[in-house]
Amino acid sequence: MEKKNIDWANLGFGYITTENRFVANYDGKAWDEGKITTDSNVVISECAGVLQYAQTCFEGMKAYTTEDGRVVTFRPDLNAQRMEDSCKRLEMPVFPQDKFVEAVVETVKANLEYVPPYGSGATLYIRPYMFASSPVIGVKPADQYQFRIFVTPVGPYFKGGVKPLTIRTCDFDRAAPHGTGHIKAGLNYAMSLHAIVDAHNNGFDENMYLDPATRTKVEETGGANFIFVTKDNKVVTPKSSSILPSITRRSLMTVAKDYLGLEVEEREVLLSEVKDFAECGLCGTAAVISPVGKIVTKDGEICLPSGMEKMGPITQKLYDTLTGIQMGRIEAPEGWIKEIK
Ligand code: PLP
Ligand code: COI
Repeated sequence: MEKKNIDWANLGFGYITTENRFVANYDGKAWDEGKITTDSNVVISECAGVLQYAQTCFEGMKAYTTEDGRVVTFRPDLNAQRMEDSCKRLEMPVFPQDKFVEAVVETVKANLEYVPPYGSGATLYIRPYMFASSPVIGVKPADQYQFRIFVTPVGPYFKGGVKPLTIRTCDFDRAAPHGTGHIKAGLNYAMSLHAIVDAHNNGFDENMYLDPATRTKVEETGGANFIFVTKDNKVVTPKSSSILPSITRRSLMTVAKDYLGLEVEEREVLLSEVKDFAECGLCGTAAVISPVGKIVTKDGEICLPSGMEKMGPITQKLYDTLTGIQMGRIEAPEGWIKEIK
């Protein structure tokens, strides 16, 4: 199989249309079998639930070419579980988890020419999503839904690859207590757009959202969870019921403990203690682990001791081990790697 003629090494995090995608429809009672189609356009009612009341959710995952030339994905069962959680919270029909994983495999198989080669620095981003396709005008769940998966080859989420980022604490809230922060609802991202545009206009790469009730605790960014490293090499991550349970972050905590022998803690993290950490990183499928060098708060700047030139040493080890597992250089824990080809 010939790879597409793409300048893999210089890809950013953007959308490139590929030939094939997966589509399944829910008619109000059941999902159909679903199939691969070449049509990248979606045609729905002007009054579709997704257009009027944002009834939509999505997932994000990646396929990798391993050192020995296989194509794999990373823990797709956890994306299937999280999409089920999102659907239930948004009154959408669940696409069965085993079918979700099968559809991911089928979609990647149908787009193998677009899976970036090993060592190119790029990966294949996989975007499963579901939306209400039938009309609703009173505020209620729609009857019909569509589930789709497209793929697109991507490079680093943040320009500059792994250069430390400068972020700020945000005046806007991302998620209310008992709201939808813990699921991957499109609405969480719509409401973050103003905050991210404002952050970029002011020279920041991302926003650090704080807990909306007290604005004293660290939550997450618009698209990634935080990990911190203490001066005595403990890996700490914020615990909150209003952040997205990142699969990357959960995996990194296992890597820290079981592969690197580090102590790990998932607990509330006060903004006031961030100045005492040695390293900070943003973790997610898109972000992988992107180091943070500086955090600007209302009470002044926090410059992480790891600096603005490169990742801190523990962050680097976490990054190397996780990507080593994903690219097949390091043996994965049981069940983490789903082979596609
Ligand atoms: N937090 C938010 C708000 C996200 O959008 C994402 C991306 O999916 C993450 C965290 C990271 O989650 P994961 O590691 O499962 O990709
Ligand atoms: C991901 O990491 O998969 C995300 O969804 C983050 C962002 C692109 C929304």
